[in-house]
Amino acid sequence: MTAAARLDTPKPLKQPPYDDGGLPLIGYTLHFMHDTLDLAFKLQRRNGNVYRSRQFLDTVSLMGPDAAQYVLQDREDRFSSAEGWAFFVGKLFEGAIMAMDDPQHRIERRIMQQAFKKPALSSYVDKMAPYMVERLSRWQPSRKFMVFQNIKKLTLDLAAPVFMGIELGPEADKLNDAFLHMAEASLGFVRYSVPGTKMHKGMKGREYMIKVLRDMIPQKRAVETPDLFSQMCHAKSDSGEAFTDDQVINHMIFMMLAAHDTTTSTLTTMIYALGKNTEWQDRLRAHSQTLAAEGLSNLRYDDLDKVDEISWCMKEALRMYPPLAAIPRMCKKDGEFEGYKIKAGQLVNIYPIHTHYMGEYWKNPFMFDPLRFSPERNEHKQHMFQWIPFGGGAHMCLGQHFADLQVRCVMHQLLQHFKWTVPDDYRMPYQLVPIAKPKDGLPVNLQRIG
Ligand code: HEM
Repeated sequence: MTAAARLDTPKPLKQPPYDDGGLPLIGYTLHFMHDTLDLAFKLQRRNGNVYRSRQFLDTVSLMGPDAAQYVLQDREDRFSSAEGWAFFVGKLFEGAIMAMDDPQHRIERRIMQQAFKKPALSSYVDKMAPYMVERLSRWQPSRKFMVFQNIKKLTLDLAAPVFMGIELGPEADKLNDAFLHMAEASLGFVRYSVPGTKMHKGMKGREYMIKVLRDMIPQKRAVETPDLFSQMCHAKSDSGEAFTDDQVINHMIFMMLAAHDTTTSTLTTMIYALGKNTEWQDRLRAHSQTLAAEGLSNLRYDDLDKVDEISWCMKEALRMYPPLAAIPRMCKKDGEFEGYKIKAGQLVNIYPIHTHYMGEYWKNPFMFDPLRFSPERNEHKQHMFQWIPFGGGAHMCLGQHFADLQVRCVMHQLLQHFKWTVPDDYRMPYQLVPIAKPKDGLPVNLQRIG
């Protein structure tokens, strides 16, 4: 071989090193569930940015924002979201958009996007306001107010009118029960519908929800109303495609899940962070009270940018406790990342929880510091994929703005009427997998102030 030819010869790719630590057979599965952040840093330090290990399944971990960009942006159509999520989403969420790949994904996402455009979002905000005020007025001050359960109930109660367009009452309660069974099954580890298991109850819940949704479709198609269900029935892509009844049903079921646990998680971790960092709580409250004194006790869509600081706190809570700590994909064709071969048929994971704490991008990453998201600092903008609680690329969360609006509205209300603290030495025990949540329900000392 000539010297020139030798120079042209590409270097052979390395295999990702296999880290066979952890427990026999299950490897790092328990560590992953118990402390995803600790595991991510530990294995990255030991193995570098690309390594194989057992975390539920045989997984190649790709660490850091470049890796997240490589996988999520997926310029060469190498990674399947459908197959990546198959183990977790399965039959319970058949037809879910997250469990689709192109070209079907592209077509259905284009239609779905119509239900998240400004006029639709604005009508959801208006629809939500009276229910939110009424439900929050029922909160009873207590020295041990359990935040997680109460926020979960709140987001569920808001979903009935905003998502489904139904009034709260026995019908909504029944639907909420069916939905909760599905949500529980989706987070459980038994993936088969055997009587007595959560999965079985979840599948029954799904059947009930399908029936209710199907019965309501003619009425939703007949008249456009300010709820997500109706918007999905009327949504048309720019080229005129619309959803069939089955597609509307499948998307509604998945979206309720995608919205519920994630928003509950976000509001809960924000309440924790503001209970610990009361100077931020006081700062936000002072601003909300000023707005209320100007007649803005309830915010409409166009007022929401007046509470940007609530949104910085939300972003910071999502940085520290991203509801989805890791995002899976299946590699469909051989690829290469940083000199390592990523083989077709290999499950890969990227880790928002890891990039969110990398010292290279975040100053004092363990500190709650919402100002990093202020326009003056914009610390999150050094790399497009360093802050990725909503994912990125083709499957990036469609409900990001919806979630932001809901959090701004709920927090603005909460701050006007309540104040809360946690003891100085309290550290919220939390789990990050499957979805970030406090293990103890987050008890706070809640007082009414107005
Ligand atoms: C703070 C709250 C939320 C967080 C942190 C969050 C996070 C995420 C993430 C990380 C993904 C991408 C998953 C992947 O790439 O595999 C995603 C997708 C999705 N989310 Fe959210 N989400 C939130 C709220 C919502 C809400 C409120 C809705 C609906 C109203 C929603 C609807 C969706 C949908 C439809 C997808 C799938 C998009 C696609 O596959 O094209 N999410 N979300």
